[in-house]
Amino acid sequence: MTTFRYATGSPREIAAGLLIVPVFEGPEPGPGAKETRTFEAYAGAKLSGKKGENLLVPKRRGDRFAADAVLLVGVGKKDAFDLVASRRALGRIGGIARRFGTAATTFALAFGAKQSADAVQAAAEGLALGAYRFDRYRTKKDPSGPVTRVVIAGSSRWDAKAARAALKRAEVIVDAVCWARDLVNTPAADMSPAAIAREAQAMARQVGLTCKVWTEAQLKQGGFGGIIGVGQGSVNPPRMIELTYTGAGRATPLALTGKGIAFDSGGLSIKPADGMETMKCDMGGAASILATMKVLARLRPKINVIAAIPSSENMPSGSAQRPGDVITHRGGITSEVLNTDAEGRLILADSLAYLAEKRPSLIVDTATLTGACVVALGADITGVMGNDDDLVHEIVAAGEAVGEPTWQLPLHRDYRPMIDSKVADVKNIGKRYGGAITAALFLAEFVGETPWCHMDIAGPAFADGAHDLGPAGGTGAPVRTLVRFVLDRAGA
Ligand code: BES
Ligand code: MN
Ligand code: ZN
Repeated sequence: MTTFRYATGSPREIAAGLLIVPVFEGPEPGPGAKETRTFEAYAGAKLSGKKGENLLVPKRRGDRFAADAVLLVGVGKKDAFDLVASRRALGRIGGIARRFGTAATTFALAFGAKQSADAVQAAAEGLALGAYRFDRYRTKKDPSGPVTRVVIAGSSRWDAKAARAALKRAEVIVDAVCWARDLVNTPAADMSPAAIAREAQAMARQVGLTCKVWTEAQLKQGGFGGIIGVGQGSVNPPRMIELTYTGAGRATPLALTGKGIAFDSGGLSIKPADGMETMKCDMGGAASILATMKVLARLRPKINVIAAIPSSENMPSGSAQRPGDVITHRGGITSEVLNTDAEGRLILADSLAYLAEKRPSLIVDTATLTGACVVALGADITGVMGNDDDLVHEIVAAGEAVGEPTWQLPLHRDYRPMIDSKVADVKNIGKRYGGAITAALFLAEFVGETPWCHMDIAGPAFADGAHDLGPAGGTGAPVRTLVRFVLDRAGA
């Protein structure tokens, strides 16, 4: 866990292992570079301030700063330096900060008073997320890190109360994003539907959320044919996790759900070996909703939120569902399972229908749903679709604001006939092309008139390699987008 502190004194006086200071392209000293008299070394080393350049200046006798070392970080052109760039630049040096254990940064000081709270939050998030590692399964632990304490330098002219509130938000968000990453990174052998449900229950107890876990028998009883059907081939029975956050009395809640496939082998429509390698990530949507609920419970915005998170393991076996089987979803709509690897939509159909019954103001779902979305947008960008353009735009704007790239794809109704079934209400696959859209059209069948937004995170949920804000593996996307969206809605 990383804790954050806000300090408005001179950067020279901040006692920390590592003091991290920006340098703009030129090079031009950023806040703290002159005061610490380290900029001379940077310019002297013929560095230009381009992104990716670092210079570590260890303290020698007579140096005029309290930290053990100063890290000068090239951040690129000054006029292109915004909150997203700041978060990412600090994320990139998370590994260096780990070697010092505690860190401080002047990055927020590069922004004006109007942006001060957001700048403080972005700096804290970037540094802590970039320092995340997952070594639970290594016998030789990384000798460096974690980063336990981070000091964010601010200006005495800023609203200190707002800055401290921003740091509190950062602390809670970072904790939740790292938890979502842990859940995704944990091998499926140790993260079955029941294990996910146990994690949810423990979290709910810790932060004070109402949590109900539906067992397999209860799901059968309740008519959740998709969750049951997808899970019936596995020895690990399915679950559904229901969480309730009450921050606004009897107000109409908004609703969240996320795809919780503990492991996606494809089922009888089995995936090739390489397509299965990272399929422990197929509960990334579920993890993102759990993490978002944890943030809400800790920040307590004035809003009500309910979540219903379906979780099954998609495995082939003698008891697995077969291509051609017809299942009846919660609420009565039937679907023909022509490809058991299009399983995410089958479990989400149930949770969406269940949430729609509760008449929420809107529903947002997150799901590692389709490879087609990754083909369309690449691995970094979340595809967003829905039946309400204003809601979709709100989600895209939230993603933009927090630096989680999102892009709207059309919920093109003319493609709806592609999921007509010869025997049931719908079938679970479309044609070869437009797979992200036909998957969303399938989901749309289950929300009725409820305003709904779907986030396909098949790309962004899991990183093949290290990225600015963390190592390879679970990313915690799109937790920060969801939190921003809900907090904005709550007017917080
Ligand atoms: N979980 C996969 C989608 C996925 C692919 C997530 C790559 C992350 C990375 C999903 O269940 C799936 O298998 N989708 C199929 C659908 C197809 C059978 C219609 C796909 O995308 O190929
Ligand atoms: Mn699949
Ligand atoms: Zn899947």
